Amino acid sequence: MQIELKIKKFVEVETDCLVAFVVDTGAKDSPLPSVLGGKALADLSDELAAAGELTGKPMETVLLHQPAGLKAKRLLFVGCGKANKIGGVELRRLAGAAVRFLRARSIKDIAFALPDEGEWENKLEKDKSHAQASSGSRASFAGLDVARAIVEGAFVADFDPDVYKSHRRDLSLHSLTVVASPARKSTEKSLASTLNSARIIGESQNFTRQLVNEPGNAMTPTVLADRARKMASECGLKCEVLGPKEIQKHKMGAFWAVAKGSEEPPALIVLRYEPSGAPSNPVIGLVGKGVTFDSGGISIKPADGMEKMKYDMAGGAAMLGAMRAIALLKPKVRVTAIVCATENMPSGKAYKPGDVEIAMSGKSIEIINTDAEGRMILADGLAYARELGCTHLVDAATLTGACVVALGMINAGIFANDDSLYDRFHEAQQSAGEKFWRLPVEDEYQEMIKSGIADIVNSAGRWGGAISAAMFLKEFVEDTPWIHLDIAGIAWMEEAKPWIAKGPTGIAVRSLVQFVQDFA
Ligand code: BES
Ligand code: MN
Ligand code: ZN
Repeated sequence: MQIELKIKKFVEVETDCLVAFVVDTGAKDSPLPSVLGGKALADLSDELAAAGELTGKPMETVLLHQPAGLKAKRLLFVGCGKANKIGGVELRRLAGAAVRFLRARSIKDIAFALPDEGEWENKLEKDKSHAQASSGSRASFAGLDVARAIVEGAFVADFDPDVYKSHRRDLSLHSLTVVASPARKSTEKSLASTLNSARIIGESQNFTRQLVNEPGNAMTPTVLADRARKMASECGLKCEVLGPKEIQKHKMGAFWAVAKGSEEPPALIVLRYEPSGAPSNPVIGLVGKGVTFDSGGISIKPADGMEKMKYDMAGGAAMLGAMRAIALLKPKVRVTAIVCATENMPSGKAYKPGDVEIAMSGKSIEIINTDAEGRMILADGLAYARELGCTHLVDAATLTGACVVALGMINAGIFANDDSLYDRFHEAQQSAGEKFWRLPVEDEYQEMIKSGIADIVNSAGRWGGAISAAMFLKEFVEDTPWIHLDIAGIAWMEEAKPWIAKGPTGIAVRSLVQFVQDFA
């Protein structure tokens, strides 16, 4: 998808479809919804609103053909709901819903009318109720943030998982134009650079989704490593891949315990971004779980739903997508990504319940359940990141079903051993329009992972399973500031939504990129 910027009056734009946002102001004195886009569009929206055909409710779509007074062939009004409930999460979804609505009608070239600076704020002013947008503070959610959200939301929407269908209809857009009215205060230059970085981030998120979408037979650890190498050479990153021999040589006993059960060789993918002029400290370490298929191993999973365990490499793929964006956006901060890629399979060589394995750090682990493999491979991934000099760590993993039980499929889990690092991530997540909810990692929980025979067990009891998994990882980060993202419930959409297809979501990519950029 091409992204273009036009500084032009909305009525002058030639396009297959102009998209304009309509908010429900909630104001008692003017009950009609209000279009963000000036007088000419308001004439059209007021007429529809008066007829009761346009209410401004969220995700509402009203399409006009040959709109009077416009050069556009069509005009799509997108309802946004109450203005004060719209933040970065919501606006990305609204833009995405517009894109998916138009794609389904084979429309290829579209243009978004960018609300004028202050236009959102004015609507917000009118609405005196105190409901808050779920993310994006009012003050920051303006101007360039809106342009960014439109483009990123459009990329999320412009992705289909049905790549293996013999008779596939390619619905993807050719071009998306963001139209800013000449009256805007922000300069063409700042808008253009915002759109460009939003495009890079959107494409990188979709790069992650492509990886996650592949079935386990097509996306083995070796293939994932090849994809990482190719991306690295295209984007100017250093890439190194450790195979079975090196993994054993480094005494990564926890990673190897999982990997040895599979016929497919594991890969430990290391990507390095070392821009000239960046300080030697910090070095941000991004560690991802790359289980290309999780059968559960000897503690095998039930057949029902097992096919979904091809997405158990979504954390690793998120790190690769984030590195792609970072390499192209070039923030002045060092970043090292480590993706632990392996299958988790039952076999005569597989690790077994009761086994004791020694991690690279020297800690001994009693295996209770071979299906708790993610924490095993991350234990060595995190320790290796520290060995490589990372000063701050973030891991992402489809780690526990328990996290899905706790938070459902709305928020991903986030854990941190350092409040100020958490605050940084929280800021980043808000401007990236992604949802994470913090869960605790306190010393009191440490008791859950005690073993009778070894230092720790790899699987604790039934309760607080997302937390005991995080406590396990915490053993391997020691005193390094660390964030753990459990994305099990969010990495894959069970159903399509107006703004996104069913399938891989690419969660965490945008927040990770923002988090890294904010360090620079
Ligand atoms: N990959 C799974 C977690 C998962 C569950 C991801 C659902 C996506 C959706 C992980 O390896 C796993 O099997 N975890 C076990 C841990 C248990 C054995 C302690 C779980 O959550 O049941
Ligand atoms: Mn598992
Ligand atoms: Zn798993």
